[in-house]
Amino acid sequence: MLEIKDLAVQYGDQEPTIEHFNLSMKKGEIISVVGESGSGKTTVIRAVLGALAGAGRVTSGDILFHGESLLKNSKNDWRKIRGSKMSMIFQDCGGTLNPIRKIGSQYVEYIRTHESMPKQEAWQKAVTMLTKMRLPDAENIMNSYPYQLSGGMRQRVGIAMAMTFNPELLLADEPTSALDVTTQAQIVRQMMELRDDFGTGIIIVTHNIGVAAYMADQLIVMHHGKVVDHGTREEVLNNPTSDYTKKLLEAVPEMEGKRYV
Ligand SMILES: Nc1ncnc2c1ncn2[C@@H]1O[C@H](COP(=O)(O)OP(=O)(O)OP(=O)(O)O)[C@@H](O)[C@H]1O
Ligand SMILES: [Mg+2]
Repeated sequence: MLEIKDLAVQYGDQEPTIEHFNLSMKKGEIISVVGESGSGKTTVIRAVLGALAGAGRVTSGDILFHGESLLKNSKNDWRKIRGSKMSMIFQDCGGTLNPIRKIGSQYVEYIRTHESMPKQEAWQKAVTMLTKMRLPDAENIMNSYPYQLSGGMRQRVGIAMAMTFNPELLLADEPTSALDVTTQAQIVRQMMELRDDFGTGIIIVTHNIGVAAYMADQLIVMHHGKVVDHGTREEVLNNPTSDYTKKLLEAVPEMEGKRYV
């Protein structure tokens, strides 16, 4: 479904931020990208979504989605793909919601920018999605302001919005990092259910190798813009090749008192 070939990305005149990045992803696969702050994780997924920040640009390599290069996409092509075929969730989706507007009106507007439908129908669709994300009393949430929800609930709203049009690919940038450990575990499980229920392929970026290993079919470890380990979860956990990965594995955090690595 998604193929990244020898990708390099550079911001302005800086040294390349990432180099020789490769990835091959099947439908419904979960790939975790793990690495310390500044290693280039966000850069990878923003490149996939054609949304590099600032002066970021792809300087070599290619990104193919169902065999077609995404690098050739026009603004209009992207408008059709983003939100419907692939979508993204962030560390604090709540932070991207407008604080002075109720969830409902923002969600309805979001739906109607992607698909023309009457407001009432969009409202109903939103309620259905929130309920699927196991948010209790979805109508009440629609009538709430973002600050009236907990961080975990806001994050579920963000995931619900991202899943509205049943994208094939969900790009998740530190989706659980701002949450307490228990909520983090719930959200992680819920994301894995998305794959089981809808066949959604997920690339999850995290600095938490515990979360990464728990979710992943494939695990990619980055260090200073380079991939230092890449393989199936078992391969990387049982036979890490780089010292960096070995160090990460020695310091694995726990989730709900259980070690997942
Ligand atoms: N908007 C930008 N303008 C210029 N350089 C940038 C920009 N965004 C990222 N970079 C460069 O790319 C490097 C990697 O950034 P990136 O955000 O991909 O790292 P990350 O692994 O996601 O880190 P974190 O865990 O802190 O989110 C940065 O150290 C910086 O040099
Ligand atoms: Mg980042």
